[in-house]
Amino acid sequence: MKVLLTGGAGFIGSNLVRLLLHDAPDLEITNLDKLTYAGNLESLAGVANSPRYRFVRADVADARAVERVFAKGFDAVLHLAAETHVDRSLEDAAPFLRTNVLGTHVLLEAARRHGIGRFVHISTDEVYGSAPAGAFFDESAPLHPSSPYAASKAAADLLVSSYVHTFHVPAVILRCTNNFGPYQFPEKLLPLAIANALEDRPLPVYGDGMQERDWIYVEDYCRAIHLALERGRPGEIYNVSAGRPRANLDVLRALLALVGKPESLIRFVEDRPGHDRRYALDSGKFRSELAWAPQNDFERALAATVEWNRANAEWLERCRSGAYRNYYRRHYTERKKTLERWQSS
Ligand code: NAD
Ligand code: DAU
Repeated sequence: MKVLLTGGAGFIGSNLVRLLLHDAPDLEITNLDKLTYAGNLESLAGVANSPRYRFVRADVADARAVERVFAKGFDAVLHLAAETHVDRSLEDAAPFLRTNVLGTHVLLEAARRHGIGRFVHISTDEVYGSAPAGAFFDESAPLHPSSPYAASKAAADLLVSSYVHTFHVPAVILRCTNNFGPYQFPEKLLPLAIANALEDRPLPVYGDGMQERDWIYVEDYCRAIHLALERGRPGEIYNVSAGRPRANLDVLRALLALVGKPESLIRFVEDRPGHDRRYALDSGKFRSELAWAPQNDFERALAATVEWNRANAEWLERCRSGAYRNYYRRHYTERKKTLERWQSS
């Protein structure tokens, strides 16, 4: 089976390439990635020389470039490429609309024209918005995206569903909760907090830190994507989650205990505008239909992720380019000023 995988130089994408090359000897993978700030070919070191893997640098929103790639002939598409960080979407939503909405449309059009046999669209739990305390949204919950990022992903989901309905593109949509693990760019909560904790620097907590996220180890999610590629039913939407939402503050306290650092490193900072309070999904449909369950317990996976960060300090250092340092200054060192600018402009 020939698979076109978009966003394979990113966090989940690079873990997925590695898992598929190992677990699916019949797959040939072409990784189409634009290599934005979040894309890093170093994350694929060790697998890039596989005869079943090739890389194409291209933009999913560039219809001509995508057409040239599709001309090689594929059986399936795994669509992960996206702008993914909520805070960046508050600063500038334009790249989110271009990549997440227009890019998805370009891929759907190509998939339709080329009669692609399977299209797995990687969406997010954020499309449902905040879940009330105690509630776990299933796939029938209405879409209530809060951030420009979430809105762009919800728009992409609706486009995918329209191509299923109208053109019979055999697409499956996966909506997953927060992933963590190796090769995650240090802008997301856990890799940023791990890096700071190991360097005795403050861990920034937005607002009161009681927002809940349901963390899933990236390897478990990659197994879920592999199952969806093999056996997901076309036209279906599936939630994927670990099933145990945790307050951000509890997650950071667990991390500090694990690395033997004091809780005084926790620093409360101005909240993220429009911050969703709680994400919680019912993933019963995916678990029962595809016989999937997460295999990694949170505490052990967190310890493995910390170990990975310790052993890969050079990878992390290379992520922290000048552009990253500017990002960090705007979002953290000068947070108050930056938020005032967002609210007033
Ligand atoms: P990431 O930010 O680490 O990587 C995104 C990748 O997409 C990068 O390699 C980047 O270069 C590439 N990319 C961006 N714009 C592109 C474009 N126009 N054309 C081609 N490539 C482009 O993202 P991630 O965290 O690995 O997320 C992957 C997917 O999973 C996304 O669709 C995201 O919405 C979804 N998701 C992520 C999480 C999470 O916790 N990380 C949870 C649920 C869903
Ligand atoms: O829920 C799935 C989503 O998870 C994905 O669709 C997104 O691509 C991914 O970025 C992630 O979004 P979140 O906004 O939930 O992740 P983030 O790591 O940015 O934040 C997790 C929580 O931690 C959230 O409540 C905000 C908070 N936070 C985050 C950062 C970066 C902090 O308190 N401090 C921080 O410095």
